[in-house]
This record gives sequence, C-alpha cells and structure tokens, in this order.
Amino acid sequence: MDIGIDKIGFYTPNVFVDMEKLAEVRGVDPAKYTIGIGQEKMAIAPLHHDSVSMAANAALSILDDEDKAAIDFVLFGTESGVDHSKSGAVWVHQLTGIQKNARCVELKQACYGATAGIKMAMGHIALNPESKVLVLGSDIAKYGLKTGGEPTQGAGAVAIVLSQNPRVMSLDNDSASMTKDISDFWRPLYSDYAFVDGKFSNEAYLSFLKEVWNNYKEQTRRELSDFEAMCFHLPYTKMGKKAILALTEDADESEAKRLMNSYHDSIHYNKQVGNVYTGSLYLSLLSLLEQGPELEEGARIGLFSYGSGAVGEFFSGVVKPDYKQFLNKEAHEAVLDDRRELSIDEYETTLEQALPKDGSDVDIDNEQVNVGKAHLAAIKENIRMYAIK
Ligand code: CAA
Repeated sequence: MDIGIDKIGFYTPNVFVDMEKLAEVRGVDPAKYTIGIGQEKMAIAPLHHDSVSMAANAALSILDDEDKAAIDFVLFGTESGVDHSKSGAVWVHQLTGIQKNARCVELKQACYGATAGIKMAMGHIALNPESKVLVLGSDIAKYGLKTGGEPTQGAGAVAIVLSQNPRVMSLDNDSASMTKDISDFWRPLYSDYAFVDGKFSNEAYLSFLKEVWNNYKEQTRRELSDFEAMCFHLPYTKMGKKAILALTEDADESEAKRLMNSYHDSIHYNKQVGNVYTGSLYLSLLSLLEQGPELEEGARIGLFSYGSGAVGEFFSGVVKPDYKQFLNKEAHEAVLDDRRELSIDEYETTLEQALPKDGSDVDIDNEQVNVGKAHLAAIKENIRMYAIK
C-alpha cells in the first residue's frame, strides 16, 4: 500500500531575535552564530504560546473538513509537554475540530517523538486504509540566557497528515533504527531548561547517523546515488552540513556536491526559526520541498531523525508527481515575514517569563496574538484554557 505525507504545515511564534545582534551583546563574533552555528534568526515563544497552541496552529493551517472527518488518530510528539498526564493531542483535537471518535496520544523521546508518530501512523493506516492520521511535532527549545546552547534555541511546530495514496511524498517501508542509553541532552522534570553536553551531543548525533545509515544501506542495498537529497534533524543548520560531510566522506566529488546543494535548500526555514526539537527534521523536509527546485517524480529523499538520550533512525520517501501543488509555500513565507524583531532586552525578559508553579490562577495577555491563532488564554484552578483569537 502507498502510505505517506498528504499534507504538511508549520507554525512559529510571531517574534524572533536577530542572531548577529545577540552575538554582539554576548561579545561573540557574529560569524560564529551565522556561519559557525548557521542560524540567522531565533523564534521565541511568549507566554501565550506553548507546545499545544503552536501545534494547534500548525494543524489549523492545513486541515479541511474532509481531513477532520477522516482523522481517527492524533499523535503528538513533544519534549516540552504541558501536563504529566493529559496529552497535548487532546487539546489540539478540540481546537481543530477533529471528529470525536479519534484517539489522541502524546509521544516522548526527545527530538525523535514525531518520527515515532510517523512510524505508528504508517502501521495504523496499513491496517485501516481509510484512516488519516495527524502527526504533530511541537516544542520550545530552551537552554537559558548566556549558556552554551543559547544560540541553538527556537520554538515552533510541524503538523503532518498521513494517508494512503498521499499527494506529497510516499514513505518507504524500510528503515534502520538504533537506541543507546547516553546522557548527551536531557531535561529533568524540575527544570524548564535543557541540560546538554554540547560536544558529546554532536559526536553522538554523528555516530548514530553513520551506524543507522550503514544498516539502512545493508538492508535496502541503496547507495548515496539513489538519493536526490538528504534531510536531517537540525538542532542548528550547521549540524546538517556536518551530517552531509560524514555521509559523503568516501563519495566522489560530484556526488558530495550534489547532496551539499540540496542541503542549502533544506535549511531555509530552520535557519530563520532555530531548533524546534521534534519538528526540526520535518521543517527541513518542508524547506527542501517548498524552497528547492521541483524534484522529478520518484526522486528519493533520505531522512535522519535523532532524539538525544538517544534514539536514531534513517528512513526514506519518494516525492509524488506535482507535489508542489499541495504545499503552502506563500503561507509559510508569510508566517516568517510577518514576525516582529525583539530587542535583546525584550528577548531576555520573554525567555525568562514563566507561568506560576504554585497553582495560582493567571490570565494571559493575548494582545500580541494574531487573529485566528490558538493561544493559551488562562490557567484557572490548575486547568489550562486555550482559545482561538
Ligand atoms: N566564524 C565562523 N565560525 C566560527 C567562528 C567564527 N568567528 N567562531 C567559531 N566558529 C565555529 C566553530 O569552528 C565551530 O564549527 P564546527 O562545529 O564546524 O567545528 C562552530 O562555530 C561552533 O563553535 P564551538 O564548537 O566553539 O561552539 P560552542 O562551544 O559554543 O558550542 C554547540 C556549540 C555545541 C552547538 C552548543 O551551542 C550547544 O551545546 N548546543 C545545544 C546542543 C546541540 O544542539 N547539540 C546538537 C546535537 S544533539 C541533537 O541534535 C538533539 C537536540 O536537538 C538538542
């Protein structure tokens, strides 16, 4: 059965910080952030946005009535969930108006969560061919002010509708995965900020990539030449360059050049948003599909998902004819172009704002929320209240 991505959309908050200005204030050469790390702008989530509201906005941007009637499974990948018990998917289900006989679940394994959702969605559709599944990857990446990870923060969500006979990309059923208990990046329950061993996390990412790629090659007998492009989990865009270099170490020059060209298309949105954890790989795929040249029907794209802690997976898909017709390039460019730049002072205040942890009620200012967007409106008697402006 042909199963894959029928629709894909994304959302990011409407404020950002400029990386060159942040570098200047931190006393760092701006080229370190823009070239060494590869980030131009970093999305920041104000208090009215969390993983739920961002995921709802990503979903609202792509769902029509037919999808809402056919979706019977909502799988929400996140590592910045808002409740230890209730899944973010339940709120998104309500905010988007998906039919009531659906299942809603949250999935966690660092940045790998949405990929787990995709794998589960494929199995579900194989057994229930008329079903559509909504997979969400939504996160706020936060390391804290003046930390090593500060230039690799971000916020945003990706929403994907999977179905049989998809219009954007068919997903191959073969893939290679791997799990290893390591401490490269984690966030204890008591902390709003992630802990990371930066250099080790880079090394772990690359060693997972090499191992799952070799396993994938062995399993499928495919080689680099079978791929038109590769997309990677992008904690920052330079990581994708390191990934291409690692995969093409022994490749001939033209092969390496071909894949490096596609890398430039695949970082377009990520370099303006930053790390969105679970959604980062799919934001990169969206960049490639929307911002790159039209790929020929049947062109194969490799996908590497990495969630610290750690789980990695290499899998692949094939683009459908006329896939560009089913994307929303102008709308996504508008989401990025319509943002307001925060001064460094505003950024520092916004990043450190936190909801009360003592159970007190709070109303959240929605003045800066764009009309039509889902947002966190209040917390009353420990219950989160979302609204659409
Ligand atoms: N001009 C151009 N480039 C410069 C420069 C300048 N003036 N100054 C430095 N650079 C380059 C460096 O040469 C280096 O390049 P390479 O990586 O290619 O060697 C790059 O800029 C970064 O410099 P440093 O290594 O000195 O930077 P750092 O010590 O500040 O750490 C970091 C960078 C490790 C990414 C850190 O920001 C961090 O810990 N980030 C969070 C962790 C992370 O994103 N890890 C990624 C893998 S884990 C994962 O993928 C899961 C996840 O989402 C978290």
